[in-house]
Amino acid sequence: MKGIGVLISGGGTNLQAIMDAIDQGRIPARINVVISDRPDAYGLVRAEKRGIPAFCINRKQYADSYAFNRAILEKLKEYKAEYVVLAGYLSILSPELVECYRNRIINIHPSLIPAFCGMGFYGHKVHQAVLDYGARLTGATVHFVDEGADTGPIIFQKSVEVMPDDTAETLSQRVLKVEHEILPRAVALLVQDKIKVSGRKVIIEE
Ligand code: GRF
Repeated sequence: MKGIGVLISGGGTNLQAIMDAIDQGRIPARINVVISDRPDAYGLVRAEKRGIPAFCINRKQYADSYAFNRAILEKLKEYKAEYVVLAGYLSILSPELVECYRNRIINIHPSLIPAFCGMGFYGHKVHQAVLDYGARLTGATVHFVDEGADTGPIIFQKSVEVMPDDTAETLSQRVLKVEHEILPRAVALLVQDKIKVSGRKVIIEE
C-alpha cells in the first residue's frame, strides 16, 4: 500500500477530506505521517483521532529553513512517505526536499493559478485580493510543487463564481468545498501513478 506524508499548518480540512476519501475507498493508499510546521494546527488533532502518527516540526525551533526542511525530510523518510501532499501548508520547501520528491509533491491553492498566488497569497488574503480586484471567477488549483511558490505544473482546477455580496469568509467557504473535491481526486491519481508531466503540461490517465 503506497504511503503518503501530509504537511499542514492549520485546521486540516483538506487533510480530513483525504482521510475521508481513503476511508471511502476512493484513494488506494494510506497516510503514514502528518507533519505540521506549527504546534497549534488542529489538523494534528484530526490525525491523532484517526490513529495517524502526527508531529509538529516547529519552524521557530530551527536556525534556518535548510535545517527545518532537513528535519521534515528525515521524518518523511522515517515514515516511508512515497508522496507528499501540502494541505494548507504555509512554509516554503527547500530545493533539497523538492528534488528528493520531484513530481511526487502536490499542493492545493485557493485560487485559479496563475492569478492571486505566490509569496504572501495564502488563506483569506487570497480571497480578499480576489474581491479587491473585482474578479468574477475564482476557484482552486491542485499543482505539482517545484522550487517556486505556487509555480509547478497544474493538475486540476475548478472555478467558483464570485457573488456581489461575498466577503473573504463567504468566498473561502465555497472555495474550500471545491478544494475538498479536487485534492482527493488528484491524490488518488498520483498514488496510482496516473499523472504524467511533460514540461508544463500534465497528462492524466483517468
Ligand atoms: C485554506 O485557506 C485553504 O484554502 C488552503 O489552506 C487553508 C487551510 O486549509 N489550502 P485546511 O483547512 O488547513 O486544509
